[in-house]
Amino acid sequence: MGKIIAGKVSDITPGKMIKVSVDGRDILVANIDGEFFATDDSCTHSGASLSEGKLDGCVITCGWHAAEFDCKTGKLIKFPAKIRDLTSYKVSADSNDVFIEV
Ligand code: FES
Repeated sequence: MGKIIAGKVSDITPGKMIKVSVDGRDILVANIDGEFFATDDSCTHSGASLSEGKLDGCVITCGWHAAEFDCKTGKLIKFPAKIRDLTSYKVSADSNDVFIEV
């Protein structure tokens, strides 16, 4: 377990999500109303990059086949087939940087 800098607070503005690569793993970091959250970036359906999808409130919609995940928990919200939840990660921030714990 370690704390990794995910990006600058000023670069991840409210309503925005970015992808960061940590030890070969792609992680999505989102800013929801000034609070930061992180989950796996790869959709558990067919592996699309979720950070290239849509973020509406705390709902991430996959750009390929529209699976919906809760960005705060990684839980699957909606999809016709049963697919796995996303792994979520602890996130913290100071005045300059956003950190994820992996
Ligand atoms: S790859 Fe995300 S819903 Fe199919």
